[in-house]
Amino acid sequence: MRLLGIETSCDDTSAAVVEDGSVRSNVVSSQTALHRPFRGVVPELASRAHLTNLVPVVTRALADAGPGRVDAVAYTRGPGLMGPLLVGKVAAQTLARLMGVPAVGVNHLEGHVLAAELEHRVRWPAVALVVSGGHTDLVLAKAPGRYRVLGRTRDDAAGEAYDKVARLFGLGYPGGPEIDRLAESGDPRAAAFPRPTMPGTWDFSFSGLKTAVLYHLRDHPGALKGRGRADLCASFQEAVAETLVEKTLAAARASRAKDVLIGGGVAANSRLRALMTQRGEAAGFGVRLPARALCTDNAAMIAHAAWRRLSAGPAPRAGRADPSLPLRSWARA
Ligand code: KG4
Ligand code: ZN
Repeated sequence: MRLLGIETSCDDTSAAVVEDGSVRSNVVSSQTALHRPFRGVVPELASRAHLTNLVPVVTRALADAGPGRVDAVAYTRGPGLMGPLLVGKVAAQTLARLMGVPAVGVNHLEGHVLAAELEHRVRWPAVALVVSGGHTDLVLAKAPGRYRVLGRTRDDAAGEAYDKVARLFGLGYPGGPEIDRLAESGDPRAAAFPRPTMPGTWDFSFSGLKTAVLYHLRDHPGALKGRGRADLCASFQEAVAETLVEKTLAAARASRAKDVLIGGGVAANSRLRALMTQRGEAAGFGVRLPARALCTDNAAMIAHAAWRRLSAGPAPRAGRADPSLPLRSWARA
């Protein structure tokens, strides 16, 4: 089964062709430069950019994939920004109608959870950590289609914390990749930042860590001079990575998961990837990390999630675009 996927939930316009779990093409047009001056995604600008980018992106994805009939068009129903979601949905439904195939709405989080399957054989049950600019979710996936959200962030998403702290460090937007790059040459033990544990829950909280960075800068004038900035990047990054890894592995142990998965923009972080692999494998889990291009927002994961659903039963009714769409199970136990 060959699916065309369309992803427009935030600031990446993406289209992909995926066939029975294999990526044939995956084209992403990033709007980062457009939003950079505002240090965040401006929904109206994002919607307009999706409108202009979508046709060339879809055309390229179809051309890159080579000839072959498309059996369904998948799109992101939510969660995400309303305007951008609507652009993708209308495009997907129009294309599906023209091709005479079903349009399948997909939950964006399910896309991130299942993305690892595009490159690895995943053993279920698995615990997935989805960390991006908008999400910090810990999901127990008993199988494709059977999900329980164990925990989420109480305040800032992990990527949001990265972006805000990057600003305190005088870095550009988005801050995650810049902190990651600078941290490489820094000392992670230079500053002792807290590892917020939120005991008794599977939730996260990053606002305290952000405040700790703010106080550190206030109490140590000149902390960003010379090697100082790299040291602080490394120390902050270590605190975030340890917090995410320890909680994810504790959840994996508690739910007797076989594999641990990660997804979302922050899953591209080199320290998080290294630490999750090291501690996860030492604890006996299979750690299945998607390539960075499949961690950040992309349409291949959306097409893949739709394929999982279509291979299990008839196409679901095309649902409304929903900015806060909850992750629900669609498969029976
Ligand atoms: O998934 P994504 O591309 O978009 C959504 O938010 O949905 O994630 C973007 C977020 C930004 O906050 C960015 O700073 C963060 O992911 N990010 C990173 C890295 N690359 C992107 N954070 C830490 N390290 C990275 N290498
Ligand atoms: Zn995402």
